[in-house]
Amino acid sequence: MTQSLAAVVLCAGKGTRMKSDRAKVLHPILGRPLAWYPITSAYELGAQQVVAVVGHQADDVKNALTAGFPGQALQFAVQATQRGTGDAVSAARGALTGFSGAVLVLYGDVPLLTVETLKRLIAAYDPSKGPLAMISCRLADPTGYGRVLRGAGHKVEGIVEHKDATAEQKLIAEVNAGIYVVDSKFLWGALEKLTPQNAQGELYLTDIVSQAARVGTVAVIEAPAEETAGVNDRAELAERAEIIRARINLRHMRAGVSLVHPASTFIDAGVEIGPETTIGPNVSIQGECEIGANATIGQGSVLVHTTVGDGAEVKPYSVTDEAVIGPRCHVGPFARLRPGTVLEEGVHVGNFVETKKARLRKGTKAGHLAYLGDADIGPGCNIGAGTITCNYDGVSKHETVLGAGVFIGSDTQLVAPVRIGDGAFIGAGSTITQDVPAGALSISRTPQTIKEGWAERRRKVLAGLKQD
Ligand code: UD1
Ligand code: CA
Repeated sequence: MTQSLAAVVLCAGKGTRMKSDRAKVLHPILGRPLAWYPITSAYELGAQQVVAVVGHQADDVKNALTAGFPGQALQFAVQATQRGTGDAVSAARGALTGFSGAVLVLYGDVPLLTVETLKRLIAAYDPSKGPLAMISCRLADPTGYGRVLRGAGHKVEGIVEHKDATAEQKLIAEVNAGIYVVDSKFLWGALEKLTPQNAQGELYLTDIVSQAARVGTVAVIEAPAEETAGVNDRAELAERAEIIRARINLRHMRAGVSLVHPASTFIDAGVEIGPETTIGPNVSIQGECEIGANATIGQGSVLVHTTVGDGAEVKPYSVTDEAVIGPRCHVGPFARLRPGTVLEEGVHVGNFVETKKARLRKGTKAGHLAYLGDADIGPGCNIGAGTITCNYDGVSKHETVLGAGVFIGSDTQLVAPVRIGDGAFIGAGSTITQDVPAGALSISRTPQTIKEGWAERRRKVLAGLKQD
């Protein structure tokens, strides 16, 4: 195809059967709104302009889709009342003023069409033979769909909607997928000629097919039924999501990522994973995650907006959110990294350690049972089991700052704001409320006392009480 390409993506429908306060095209599949998938395909096909036609909850749809395509000049056209698919495409005309070439029409609620199939459609489109190419598919149960009408020589003559079809036409198994490539000049002219003289009183986009058949040959490619299926309710949303999930998993495996159990692995659409990384069963990687090479994500872990460096190991059942895990770190099992956590290279965060707004510098270890919040912890520190940064005084949050090579004994409370200098030692069981200078030992527990023979005396007292 030598012509330039624009895409119109129909997203105005209400989606009544979703039974939702949220517009249908914003329901998520693997971390992206439903309409993100067809729009992404349009960009992958090289469309110079992409216009989303919005109507129902127009502002929410615009905001969400704009956010979904940073750096792209995604355009919007508003179809205030939904008077049919033909009316919806007409709404995009203003946004495409000055454009001349091929217009690809996609539906915002049809997420499975592959770029390969759309390329076949574009390849079949030949404006020297006819102004329109379309996708059809064969369904065992074509109920509800528009049927493809073919005449002499198997030539396409038009589409009849299910509600307008005769009993005989309803037997046709070849249905209209609703996806077309149309010459822009022909399109705008054909749309002007639409009338709502049909069973639904709508302006049917499908009526441009018979107009195209009158001026040329309508090119048709057949697509697998799986790809053309739309989303009408939440059960269908889940079915389509399942296929997208499997496609995403396959793409990562083909790129050198090992998925131990793909059937239970959930990787969102925007996630990047380096080669030789292994993802265990029941792992969920959500949002904007970037996982390096040679990393391991253990069974049952949930990673949200998290960066994992090369060679890092996240052991089973760890939960992370807005966290950065540096190269060759060891995290978990059962670690909880909350927003603002940054683990520099080679940090070890073990079981039942919770971090929040905390930077653990190179090589620091917090092996077990700790809460580190609003903390800047120097390189090479050792954080004993049971260490707690007391960061909240009931009104505001305060910071704990540790220098390099600090040793915090087990069961220590660091009452913020507090600073511990380089190489300082804190004795186990201390409650630290004052800054500790570099190289010092600070210990705050009560001195230990020993009472010789106390246990025997107690036993006798208790025995005497019993005899009374
Ligand atoms: C349409 C086709 C039908 C085809 C089927 C495939 C028409 C008249 N019929 O029927 O031949 O078999 O798709 O799925 O085109 N939309 C708007 N504004 C409107 C109406 C619809 O934006 O005024 C959007 C919807 O949100 C949806 C898409 O267009 O994304 C398709 O609309 P829908 O009502 O589902 O069309 P069908 O009746 O299924
Ligand atoms: Ca539909």
